[in-house]
Amino acid sequence: MHLCKTVDRLNEPDVEDWWNRVRYRGYAPVYDWLAWPMERGRRRTIEWLAPTPKERILLVGCGTGADLPYLPRAAPVTMIDAVPAMVRRASARAVQLGRSADVHVGDARALPFGADTYDLVLLHLFLSVVSDPVAVLHETARVLAADGRVSIYDKFVPEGEAPSRIRRALNPVARVLVSDFTRRLEPLLAEAHFEKVAHRRAGLWGLYTATIARPAGDTG
Ligand SMILES: C[S@@+](CC[C@H](N)C(=O)[O-])C[C@H]1O[C@@H](n2cnc3c(N)ncnc32)[C@H](O)[C@@H]1O
Repeated sequence: MHLCKTVDRLNEPDVEDWWNRVRYRGYAPVYDWLAWPMERGRRRTIEWLAPTPKERILLVGCGTGADLPYLPRAAPVTMIDAVPAMVRRASARAVQLGRSADVHVGDARALPFGADTYDLVLLHLFLSVVSDPVAVLHETARVLAADGRVSIYDKFVPEGEAPSRIRRALNPVARVLVSDFTRRLEPLLAEAHFEKVAHRRAGLWGLYTATIARPAGDTG
């Protein structure tokens, strides 16, 4: 039933998805420069996550593969992004780092991977951007192994807090060029039946947060 819903949504004209593909194709050559302020938070989030070399890791909406340098070199990594210009850069980064990675162009709302395939899924700077984040979370739950976990490093408003002054000030521009800075993660997790395992602030004056989550009801 969920699959039918996802396919129906993918068949609808989706302006948000179209705009994402257009702008990220444009951003690709300068993305690493644009994302540089988030680098420290990214590194600290992955250190906190402490992935092991045995974990099978999936980077959804991988962009230029900016997470790669912080992941264990021996861990099997798969990357997917809707924009070929991003995927080419992610692939080149893997080569530059001397590590192997399986790289795909594809839609995170309909992942081309089997069930129970990954131990760790990174949704970094992605859920606040993608059209239909709940469909992405459903797909993430499907491809996750039974005791798998998800890392969400993003700019959601911290739980229980009102959007800060800086968020409200940045939002009119951010909504068009980046994403809505006043969005909350918890309703998305609840709708997709995920639960939080751990959560913390991840830099830039609390604008970015790091969350580890897993499908609810998974007692692993
Ligand atoms: C803000 S970037 C984040 C990139 C990377 N995860 C990072 O942490 O730097 C968002 C990425 O999502 C990709 N994207 C947007 N919609 C997508 C979709 N439906 N499926 C897969 N990738 C998508 C964009 O092409 C872009 O590379």
